[in-house]
Amino acid sequence: MNLIAAVDRNWAIGKDGRLLVSIPADKELFRMETRGKTVIMGRKTLESMPGGQPLYKRTNIVLSRNPGFSVKGAVVCRSVEETLEEIKHVPSEDVFVIGGADIYREFLPFCDTAHITYIDYAYHADTYLTNLDRDPAWRMNMETDEYTYFNLCYTFRRYVRIKN
Ligand SMILES: NC(=O)c1ccc[n+]([C@@H]2O[C@H](COP(=O)([O-])OP(=O)(O)OC[C@H]3O[C@@H](n4cnc5c(N)ncnc54)[C@H](OP(=O)(O)O)[C@@H]3O)[C@@H](O)[C@H]2O)c1
Repeated sequence: MNLIAAVDRNWAIGKDGRLLVSIPADKELFRMETRGKTVIMGRKTLESMPGGQPLYKRTNIVLSRNPGFSVKGAVVCRSVEETLEEIKHVPSEDVFVIGGADIYREFLPFCDTAHITYIDYAYHADTYLTNLDRDPAWRMNMETDEYTYFNLCYTFRRYVRIKN
């Protein structure tokens, strides 16, 4: 399955329950890549979205251990195992792990492709993704030219798993 994330120079992904920055071209790529697909997210990431609502035109799976938690328009799973059972008939290339840090960490072993927006800036942050440049199981196989958004420079990268 796929992982999709925007990271800074230190592979930070968030602070105080929010994204570090919102880059329109990154949001657009996220929309294009995940449209019509199955997205897997943690309860906190769902709550960080506009209105705390699931994403439109996607099959949303939200993980929570809280037995009382439910959300209209999403399937709630109570564990990684339950999630894997839920998606067992979905082609793995159509599944996107969209965060946050807990969910990236728990599903990374099941991912074989990572779509990373790499922002060349170091933010104050409190949540991180594993640095795939330092993980021997992963290799970057594509990086676009550099784009700019005001004074920020960023690229779109793709990483693939080369071993388990
Ligand atoms: N840069 C990016 O691309 C990106 C993308 C997404 C999110 N983010 C950022 O990441 C941060 C949120 O990440 P986070 O790690 O704090 O939260 P998270 O991963 O979004 O959600 C964590 C919650 O998911 C549930 N959960 C986790 N593992 C579970 C399991 N095995 N079984 C059942 N439920 C499970 C628990 O919910 P309960 O507490 O309800 O049990 C847990 O509190 C925010 O700052 C957000 O903006 C960044």
